Amino acid sequence: MSKSKRTPAMTLSALALVVLSMASCGGDPNSPGVEYMPDMYRSPAIEAYVDFGQDPYMFTEEVAMEQRQRQGARLPVAGTIPFAADPAKAEFNMPYAYPNTTDGYEAAGMYLKSPIEMTEATVEQGKAIYTKFCMHCHGEKGEGDGGVVKNGNYPTPPSYTAALKDLPEGKIFHSLVYGKNVAMGSHASQLNKEERWLVVQYVKYLQNGGKMQLETAATTATTAVN
Ligand code: HEC
Repeated sequence: MSKSKRTPAMTLSALALVVLSMASCGGDPNSPGVEYMPDMYRSPAIEAYVDFGQDPYMFTEEVAMEQRQRQGARLPVAGTIPFAADPAKAEFNMPYAYPNTTDGYEAAGMYLKSPIEMTEATVEQGKAIYTKFCMHCHGEKGEGDGGVVKNGNYPTPPSYTAALKDLPEGKIFHSLVYGKNVAMGSHASQLNKEERWLVVQYVKYLQNGGKMQLETAATTATTAVN
């Protein structure tokens, strides 16, 4: 009795197994077959840098709720100061305080001081940046005789060892941030603050005729870079 009851049950489950396995072998080899949990197959696409909240017509409570679950990467709010893992470099992440005005330029000349100490190593680093970003106009020694100037394609920049000999480091930095008149563009997007100060360092080195500054010359005379 029990045997005859079990047999149809077994037949049925065997049949169900066959039907199920057939369901996963559809005609299209690229089809995943039956989707039991569709959200496991199709994850929601998150658009990076899309901020629904910035569109006042789209910003409703529901959108805000959805946004919290779907948001992609965001730009930081204005005024955000990047974290510096190395405390010695935190200063480079601070915003630049001097405005792009004549007063700002003069104030930078008076109060803005380099956070970088002139050493053989920083002069070398500054030289590498100068060679890539400045030399084609300003020339190897800063005399204003770079390749594009000698070709007649560019106005001659003033010499670091003559007209610009006493230009203070704050003004050099300021001119790198905002550019100088029309002939020299801003270098703020190409060079980060640390790189700008390193190249300022190298301009000072050239102002000094390719020697360390006087105050450090005595202590580093034997290791001076030429
Ligand atoms: C496209 C050519 C060009 C490039 C590249 C260039 N400069 Fe200049 N630079 C000039 C010219 C031209 C002037 C003179 C601008 C003026 O006074 O009207 C100038 C001016 C300057 C001054 C004087 C600014 C002042 O306040 O009077 C400094 C310092 C300076 N450049 C440094 C640099 C450094 C450092 C770099 C590289 C990071 C650089 N320049 C890249 C052409 C260039």
